[in-house]
Amino acid sequence: MKTTTDEIADGVFRFSTLVPDVTPDGFSFNQFLVRAEEPLLFHTGPRAMFPLVAEAVSRVVPLDTIRWITFGHVEADECGSMNEWLAAAPRAQVAHGVVGVMVSLNDLADRPPRALQDGESLDLGGRRVRHIDTAHVPHGWESRLLFEETTRTLFCGDLFTHTGKGPAVTSGDIVGPAKAAEEIFHASCLTPTTGAVIRKLAEFAPTTLAVMHGSSFNGDVRRALHDLADLYDGLHRAAAGG
Ligand SMILES: [Fe+2]
Ligand SMILES: [Fe+2]
Repeated sequence: MKTTTDEIADGVFRFSTLVPDVTPDGFSFNQFLVRAEEPLLFHTGPRAMFPLVAEAVSRVVPLDTIRWITFGHVEADECGSMNEWLAAAPRAQVAHGVVGVMVSLNDLADRPPRALQDGESLDLGGRRVRHIDTAHVPHGWESRLLFEETTRTLFCGDLFTHTGKGPAVTSGDIVGPAKAAEEIFHASCLTPTTGAVIRKLAEFAPTTLAVMHGSSFNGDVRRALHDLADLYDGLHRAAAGG
């Protein structure tokens, strides 16, 4: 396996590792870095992937300058190596929503994490990111996403997950591939509010979606979010027998 690096928006880097065994066409695990005075990582990758990802990130910024370690929710691919990152970056702090900090991260993180209120921004020095609570979207009570205001990049985690070795960024359809992946994994939490939470993300008017598994997207983001919301609303209705 190897980790490839692409700048998907100005100062926003994607590190992608394709794992061949997960699906027949492979499955990518992507981490993102916002380069700023206080560099921010979104997704740590699992522990086993840390050497590969750390080496790739170190070619963009020195690891010991990383200030913020962030991710969407508490699972191994999102945050398995957070303590390896905390060790490599002595000034770094995990930042997450209040629920994630209270329920898991106060215990799991080797240094005290920073708890963010819904809508709270972090000033990275030259960049700002906004924390957005998205409970149970895509899954997990502590779920949250992050929006980078300068490039209007939404770090959307597992939303739009799709398989295969696509380009770093696409403007083609990502909702169809996300539907196909949902049919394989059934990873998304279907609730009566899933669609509404996803539609609300469009109000930030993002222009790039930084996708954790698959290609990032810079086409019609509003349309993609609404189409994904409609997909989940339909799946929820079907599951409820409606
Ligand atoms: Fe996940
Ligand atoms: Fe994930």
